[in-house]
Amino acid sequence: MLISFEGVDGSGKSTQIELLRERLTDAGRDVVVVREPGGTRLSEQIRDILLDTDNSIAPFTELLLFSAARAQLVVDVVRPRMAEGYVVICDRFTDSTLAYQGGGRAAASLEWLREFNLRVTDGLVPDRTYYLAIDPEEARSRYADVDDDRMEAAGRSFFDRVADAYERVASEEPDRVVRLNARARRAAIHDEIWKDLARNL
Ligand code: TYD
Repeated sequence: MLISFEGVDGSGKSTQIELLRERLTDAGRDVVVVREPGGTRLSEQIRDILLDTDNSIAPFTELLLFSAARAQLVVDVVRPRMAEGYVVICDRFTDSTLAYQGGGRAAASLEWLREFNLRVTDGLVPDRTYYLAIDPEEARSRYADVDDDRMEAAGRSFFDRVADAYERVASEEPDRVVRLNARARRAAIHDEIWKDLARNL
């Protein structure tokens, strides 16, 4: 089983992932959490390139680098773990590419990117995707004291486009993507996720 979490930086994904990991583990499931970009030696190296504020990276180059990191992660970790019966939780997956490279950078259309993502993951699509929806400005105020990485330095209109693209994906794929109000209490968000998982899997 593959579960992904999505949302702009500061939407509270990490907290919800930790709560879900604990809950699944308590329920006797084997769980592995991976973050994107990253999760393998090569993918972590690509992550460093992508987040380095000294790098100037063209939109299509950025798309290819995120995708390269993902392709390796799928082959090395996600598919093997799924085959062993693990629940794999991804802190970001293909929808981040739709939102950030499609919406934010306008590197390609969402339609084109959906096809491309399928090539990158060799057809792997999350069983459930939990999207933590929040106004990007409010999300930003949650990590205002931390130094910006190269993506976070992109500015307000970029993050508005990212959020718009997330909304579009959520409305176009309601059978997979669960839209959650990231401003709700964390226990309430977690309960909604847990109920949804119980209902669907
Ligand atoms: P990270 O520090 O992991 O952010 P967060 O804690 O919010 O998940 O940095 C990952 C950054 O990369 C984040 O700004 C989103 C961006 N990103 C993309 O632009 N495209 C992608 O396909 C992925 C996976 C991430």
